[in-house]
Amino acid sequence: MGTALGYWEQEKSSLKLKNKDLVSINQLSKEEITLILDMAESFKSISKRPIKKVPTLRGRTIVTLFFEPSTRTRTSFELAAKRLSADTVSISKSASSVVKGESIKDTAQTIEAMAADLVVIRHPASGSAELLARYIKCGVINGGDGSHEHPTQALLDLFTIREKFGKIEGLKVAIVGDIAHSRVARSNIFALKKMGADVVVVGPPTLIPRDIDRLGVDVSYNLDAVLPEVDILYLLRIQLERQGESLFPSLREYASLFGLNRKRLEAAKSSLVVMHPGPMNRGVEISAEIADMPQALITTQVTNGVAVRMAVLYLLLGGVEVE
Ligand code: CP
Repeated sequence: MGTALGYWEQEKSSLKLKNKDLVSINQLSKEEITLILDMAESFKSISKRPIKKVPTLRGRTIVTLFFEPSTRTRTSFELAAKRLSADTVSISKSASSVVKGESIKDTAQTIEAMAADLVVIRHPASGSAELLARYIKCGVINGGDGSHEHPTQALLDLFTIREKFGKIEGLKVAIVGDIAHSRVARSNIFALKKMGADVVVVGPPTLIPRDIDRLGVDVSYNLDAVLPEVDILYLLRIQLERQGESLFPSLREYASLFGLNRKRLEAAKSSLVVMHPGPMNRGVEISAEIADMPQALITTQVTNGVAVRMAVLYLLLGGVEVE
């Protein structure tokens, strides 16, 4: 079973997360985050094999319930589950009885009545994952709820940072863009702070919540002033779909002040890495040229997402002995 076997040889009781759900990064201790990252390191090797499958979660059923579009999160949860031999069922809003008026509670209880072991939910409403977790006994993973949280995105980002730098503590991370509407920003702020990184949020004042400094981050409205100091530039998409009104004059102006391009990159450390959760708007927050440069870890983040989600599924389901 390769390097992952070491974990399965340990006491099974030590290989569980405290909560049945993963709704917020704040539910995880620093030790639990480290366990997930260590385990993901072992699971990453499975995706490099010709036969990308282990029988670890055979007989378990994982349901993905996506009420909002997703490419990365949905696909990587489903691949992660399949690589651990779990059975997967995928439900989207348009193909479910939600379009006939069924509530989220009834949908979830229907799924649970069919003996699902774990539900991954993405929903446009903040708080929906927590609500679901209260309604059902099986575990719930938040795959992104409105502008609230996206905990597995933050975990895969931590994994990618640790893989690149060998550490997280002491690094300086700038999260740039639409902080106000970003569940990725919120989860990453919690996660990075918990692991000892310094975080500065950067963007136009209209896209940065007024009291964000209460989360222990610095605030800047000037990317060029911050750029020379940071180790990681984490760029966010402008979420026009979550903005009730226009919060800056134009995408062109946003790109000129906060977009990363080759000229702006000249002021950065030569060791700077660029991250983005995707989907990207090339030409707005990041130029097409930068997105394809080796400093951009965007596809590495996606690759690592599968391993990290394998670790989360394994630890939430408590794992089973490998034959
Ligand atoms: N990063 C992320 O959540 O991407 P998707 O919307 O494609 O899942």
